[in-house]
Amino acid sequence: MYRTKTCGELRLANVDENVTLAGWVQRVRKMGGMTFIDLRDRYGITQLVFNQEKDVDLCDKANKLGREYVIQVTGIVAERSNKNAHLLTGEIEILVSALTVLNEAVTPPFTIEDNTDGGDDLRMKYRYLDLRRNCVRANLELRHKMAFEVRRYLDAQGFLEVETPVLVNSTPEGARDFVVPSRMNPGQFYALPQSPQTLKQLLMVSGFDRYFQIVKCFRDEDLRADRQPEFTQIDCEMSFVEQEDVIRIFEGMSKHLFKYIKGIDLPDFPRMTWHDAMKYYGSDKPDIRFDMRFVELMDILKGHGFSVFDSAEYIGGICAKGAAAYTRKQLDNLTEFVKRPQIGAKGLVYARIEADGNVKSSVDKFYSQEILQRMKAAFKAEAGDLILILSGDNSNKVRKQLCELRLEMGNQLGLRDKNKYACLWVVDFPLFEWSEEDQRFYAMHHPFTSPKPEDIPLLDTEPGAVRANAYDMVINGVEVGGGSIRIHDSKLQHKMFELLGFTPEKAEERFGFLMNAFKYGAPPHGGLAYGLDRFVSIFAGLDSIRDCIAFPKNNAGRDVMLDAPGVLDQIQLDELSLQIVQH
Ligand code: AMO
Repeated sequence: MYRTKTCGELRLANVDENVTLAGWVQRVRKMGGMTFIDLRDRYGITQLVFNQEKDVDLCDKANKLGREYVIQVTGIVAERSNKNAHLLTGEIEILVSALTVLNEAVTPPFTIEDNTDGGDDLRMKYRYLDLRRNCVRANLELRHKMAFEVRRYLDAQGFLEVETPVLVNSTPEGARDFVVPSRMNPGQFYALPQSPQTLKQLLMVSGFDRYFQIVKCFRDEDLRADRQPEFTQIDCEMSFVEQEDVIRIFEGMSKHLFKYIKGIDLPDFPRMTWHDAMKYYGSDKPDIRFDMRFVELMDILKGHGFSVFDSAEYIGGICAKGAAAYTRKQLDNLTEFVKRPQIGAKGLVYARIEADGNVKSSVDKFYSQEILQRMKAAFKAEAGDLILILSGDNSNKVRKQLCELRLEMGNQLGLRDKNKYACLWVVDFPLFEWSEEDQRFYAMHHPFTSPKPEDIPLLDTEPGAVRANAYDMVINGVEVGGGSIRIHDSKLQHKMFELLGFTPEKAEERFGFLMNAFKYGAPPHGGLAYGLDRFVSIFAGLDSIRDCIAFPKNNAGRDVMLDAPGVLDQIQLDELSLQIVQH
């Protein structure tokens, strides 16, 4: 037996027991004739004591141990005189009588502590050491618990977990595919699924009724803090349902996770139309932990001789409660912030509400106090508030800029508390998105999303105005999940393909299998998928989903530990009938 107890389980009640522990040497401290070692395993840290007066040889052996050596010790549990309230095992220590070195270790390239001295690159290169750190391991433990609770909830609701293949054809989720050459079919390629979307729809045709899968998806797209090229979805689909049914089941799942993992009972989630989300927050995933909604000011501020506003298509602002005390320097910094190329505003107008209720703005010479008071009323602003205004000739662009400014003010005023959770459903998305660049419509969600029945006549006349039976779940400004009621009628599906610019031949080539299946009796169906990585990172309060993934990729899509992707040798290339062309 390598051990009788773990490093996290001994307490005062175990005093005088003879135990054997195994683990890694976290720290060696010598004090006079005593040597103290912190022994670590997944479950915790236990202090070991070696006393020179009792056993010189054993103490010498302990003194020779280095960080991260793997050892086994046997000894008696004793009450500690110098207790450590920060450790669960902090009231006891082990008076060691036998020590075996199971494995030596070279000095790790960074300290295995919560506050490590290792930079990002180094930690990723030695990720197996990084994963020894408590804080990183805790994220994976949380991930396990969440996946477990998801399975428990969905199983109780009658969902079946079904695996779908990874070597498939292109799936239309809007990103580039990762492809895999086929040796047995020279010149042909599989694509890795961007999601199991079409396969889960086929499972509905097969009568599975309620499906789910915790599944890897692959998307070749530019990476950000909340995006990885391979990520995990909690993918779900249901038959004979309407939007309301899907929302009810999955709001239930989210509440279940909050209750059993975080101990939080959440009220029903509010709903917001996509239109309102864009109008009041400039985003389809608004962070509603704080209010600070946009107020449109065209009626009040246009036409008073201030040329910037007079020529604008949109003027809008936010009111930051209690921020009138912002200094000139802070306001200059905010102006710099909105002018950054990533945001792209031309400038920022501000107005303070003074103690006497008067409004003092950066554009006072163009506006009478009466007009400024009308603006103040539009924001329901009070003494001590700060109004920030942006304008421009493209409403959507200005709203996006205002969205960034709102989030920044939320950060600066401490309104985005990671321990506070604000969930909502964004509903009534448009079915299509117009691309100026390509001069064509794209599916806002994916081509299988159904239009709202009452909007179907608009498909021929005004496709841009058609609303979809689609919904996203947003927590704290992050899109954690999204889905839709699908089209189950092959005629409507054909029409959709046509509007998306697929020729009948191209539609047949790519989605013939699905259209064909629909001919054999497809039930009305719908579903959604959550991003598990995003869900976990919100629960863990992380800034990047990388920290809850055991072996993530870096921003260049590389696994620096495995040094992947790598080149193939000539034999493999030949077998796959591939030739590398140097550009
Ligand atoms: P969608 O493309 O919205 O929908 O994806 C669902 C959820 O997956 C997560 N997600 C990601 N997480 C990490 N890295 C990425 N690159 C990434 N891309 C997406 C998000 C997102 O909300 N088949 C549909 C679902 C459906 O209609 O049922 C789909 O994949 O949290």
